[in-house]
Amino acid sequence: MHAVPSVAGLPKAGIFAELGQQLAGLIAGERDGLANAANLTALIHEAMPALNWAGFYFLRGGELILGPFQGKVACVRIGLGKGVCGTAALNRETVVVPDVHEFPGHIACDAASRSEIVVPLIQSGRLLGVLDLDSPEPGRFDHEDADGLELLVRLLLEGSDFGRLAG
Ligand code: SME
Repeated sequence: MHAVPSVAGLPKAGIFAELGQQLAGLIAGERDGLANAANLTALIHEAMPALNWAGFYFLRGGELILGPFQGKVACVRIGLGKGVCGTAALNRETVVVPDVHEFPGHIACDAASRSEIVVPLIQSGRLLGVLDLDSPEPGRFDHEDADGLELLVRLLLEGSDFGRLAG
């Protein structure tokens, strides 16, 4: 078992530094992409305040398909270019949405979601999917979250094999 130290009260940069260390420890010696992605959703959900959903979609057969997550039941398939997830995947860029009601084509899985951030997963030039976080608070995510989550995704991708799971 891994003891997960508390990050309560830390500033965002401190939370991400701690999360990076915890993720590195969790995936050391384990390259299974599904297991590592699942554990990362648990770490994020426990450490980052004001989230109502955190999880992965993997690119399979040309569309995004729901992967491991924490939160309410979510839509299973998202086309490339659709919603916030499909937009981040298609453009291969992190998307920060301060108010989901203002994002044309936003796909509402949980009516409580008010803001969202989606980070694409790119390994050796291949798009594998996205990491998606939702918050019930408007404006919950900023560039610090984008930088921190992109670093966590890099650690995950460097330390894991996704095989036929994605891409
Ligand atoms: N809101 C996302 C759909 C996925 S859920 O939030 C879990 C979107 O617009 O792509």
